[in-house]
Amino acid sequence: MGALACLMTRRTATRLVEPGPTTEQLAVILSAATTAPDHKMLRPWRFVVVRGEARATLATAIAEAAQAVGTLPEPVVRKAAGKATRSPALIAVVAARVQSKVPVGEQDASAAAAAQNICLAAHALGLASAWKSVPLLDSAQVRAAFGLADGEELVGWVELGTQAQGMPLPSRPAVPLDQVAAELAVDGTLRPVAAVVPEQLPVSAAAAQPIGSARSGPVG
Ligand SMILES: Cc1cc2nc3c(=O)[nH]c(=O)nc-3n(C[C@H](O)[C@H](O)[C@H](O)COP(=O)(O)O)c2cc1C
Repeated sequence: MGALACLMTRRTATRLVEPGPTTEQLAVILSAATTAPDHKMLRPWRFVVVRGEARATLATAIAEAAQAVGTLPEPVVRKAAGKATRSPALIAVVAARVQSKVPVGEQDASAAAAAQNICLAAHALGLASAWKSVPLLDSAQVRAAFGLADGEELVGWVELGTQAQGMPLPSRPAVPLDQVAAELAVDGTLRPVAAVVPEQLPVSAAAAQPIGSARSGPVG
C-alpha cells in the first residue's frame, strides 16, 4: 500500500476481534510511533502495550477507579472496565512531557502524532485500529496501571486487532476543502482552497491493499 492510500483508507474499527498484532507487528507499530515529528527530539511520549491476560489486570484497575467514584451504578462500572478487553491488544499513548523551551502543547502534539502513526502503521500491516479515550484517565488507579509520573498524561489508547466480519465501517463523508482550508493571498486576504474531495485523489482500491497481502488479478 502506498503512503497516500494508507492515509486515505484508514478507518476506525467498529468491532475488533482476533487476530491481534503479533509481537513482531507490535515492534513495527511502536517503531512507527517513534518517528512522529518531534521538536528538539525530546521524545515526549512513551507507550504501554496491554494484551492477553494483562487486559484483565487493566480492567480491574478501571473497575476499582470507577467504584472509587462512589456514585456510579454497577452497569456503568462494568462497561468502563469492559473497555480494557474489547480488543485483542491496545497501546496506551502517554504524553511524557520534558522540561524544555518547547511548549507543552507542541510536545503533546508530537504524542498525538505518534498515536496517529500507530493507527496508520497498523493499517499498513493489514490490521484494524481504534483510537479511544482512556476511561477514568485521571484516577489514581488508572494512572498507576500505566505507570504515569507527575506531569504525564494519557493522550488515549489505540485498540488493535482485526475488524469483525460482517461489521461494515460507517461511511465518513468527504470534507469540502473550502470549508476548512484557506490560502493567504499577497493582498493579505484569505481565499478558500478549491474544493477537491478525497475521492478525487489518486487512491485506487488496488493501492489500498495492505503491505504483504495477496493481490488478486494479474501481477505486474
Ligand atoms: C483523542 C481522541 C480520542 C477519541 N476517543 C474516542 C472514544 O473514546 N470513542 C470513540 O468512539 N471515538 C473516539 N475518537 C474518535 C475515533 O478514534 C475516530 O477517529 C472517529 O470515530 C472517526 O472515525 P474514522 O477514524 O474512521 O474516520 C477519539 C479520537 C481522538 C483523536
